[in-house]
Amino acid sequence: MAKRNTLFVCQNCGVAQPKWLGRCPSCQSWDTMVEEPAGPARRGRTSAPVKLTPLTMALERPEVRQRTGLPELDRVLGGGLVAGMVVLVGGEPGIGKSTLMLQAAQSLGGDGGRVLYVAAEESARQIGLRAQRLGLAGRGVELLADTALEPIAQAMAQGGYHAVVVDSIQALKSDELASAPGAVGQVRHCAAELAGAAKAAGCALFLVGHVTKEGALAGPRVLEHLVDTVLYFESEPSLSLRLLRAVKNRFGATDEVGVFEMGEAGLAGVSNPSAHFLAHRPASAPGSAVCAAMSGTRPLLVEVQALVSPSGLAMPRRQALGVDQGRLHMLTAVLAIHAGLDLGGHDVFVNVTGGVRLSEPAADLAVAAAIASSLANRPLPAKTVCFGEVGLAGELRAVGRSAARMAEAQRQGFGQVLTAPGKTAAPADLELLSADRLDQALALLW
Ligand code: TYD
Ligand code: MG
Repeated sequence: MAKRNTLFVCQNCGVAQPKWLGRCPSCQSWDTMVEEPAGPARRGRTSAPVKLTPLTMALERPEVRQRTGLPELDRVLGGGLVAGMVVLVGGEPGIGKSTLMLQAAQSLGGDGGRVLYVAAEESARQIGLRAQRLGLAGRGVELLADTALEPIAQAMAQGGYHAVVVDSIQALKSDELASAPGAVGQVRHCAAELAGAAKAAGCALFLVGHVTKEGALAGPRVLEHLVDTVLYFESEPSLSLRLLRAVKNRFGATDEVGVFEMGEAGLAGVSNPSAHFLAHRPASAPGSAVCAAMSGTRPLLVEVQALVSPSGLAMPRRQALGVDQGRLHMLTAVLAIHAGLDLGGHDVFVNVTGGVRLSEPAADLAVAAAIASSLANRPLPAKTVCFGEVGLAGELRAVGRSAARMAEAQRQGFGQVLTAPGKTAAPADLELLSADRLDQALALLW
């Protein structure tokens, strides 16, 4: 491929310079010049008609999902892979991205597919050792240990792959740019070229990207708009769990979470995360409530903890982890006004265990119950699950997916559920308590 000229473009104002400069001569910002190819070679306009696709034609071909064989991965992908889908898998070094990708590659390859695994950071031998450790058969997976973009794109164009894994995008280098691997310009250019190659070949593409604690400049952030799906792999140290979250997905919901456990033989999907999240629950301690939350399409029981302690501060503290800070302020106000709780002289800390983030209002009742329990220094009934939205007037509101939440409570061996009045009947063996108002609900708990 003929070497194109490159330009250094300010990421702040867009001004282009032939040489790298530490400070943009136009907008004066520092360290914003990034190398980019100087535009594609100019092609003459052809008189060929522009090809359009009628929507009716597009409708006739519903998307076919290819399952990866790892149910927790399929869940966050929105049900499986779509041809030409580009997925960015981000996470801190050592979290298990390579392990996950190799397991997915084997699962797809062993299922009769052909998978290309580009090892840009490790040698083929290192990948082989990992595969051995994971007990993989190796069938259907081809390795390419290279860091140059062009041969990878060529291999993809030769075709026949169902999926391609590039581990990692930060280790790739294109001949067209002079900057080092990992530089913003390189990462973006390589990702764009590979995404184009994947769309042309109709294969799914996984790009692995490292994020550092500081959220590194050349990390996955600069790629998010280039790809269809962004998954982040995070750890939950206290539970030895790994959570795979979708933060962007053109082919599915973004509130799905895949749960894995790292063991001797690699990553194993956790099909019953509720049990993990509740495993260390001090059931007889005040300030602990169980919430039936929805994590995407999956109901999840999580423990909400509150600690209410006398405060010496003029403005007592309200600290939330795993629930929205503003929501906590609102709930403490509602508890004070409508349930008569004396929180004015108390600090309130709320935490959702297991690193789970509860973003839905359905968690309100459990948060309120945990706070009331801690203030009263009385444990909540051990076998009760709460869910429901709390309104500013102190009313309790019904939330969606009640049946799924109740079914999960019953499945995990709880005997009672407390929520707002609704149309959903509780399953057998599960006692349904409902209240119109928050103060009534709290009274029912004791
Ligand atoms: P790795 O997938 O290399 O992480 P990343 O690609 O995100 O940098 O592996 C991460 C860690 O997982 C590593 O410290 C070793 C550990 N591990 C296991 O505990 N069990 C296993 O079977 C494998 C393959 C790795
Ligand atoms: Mg790795």
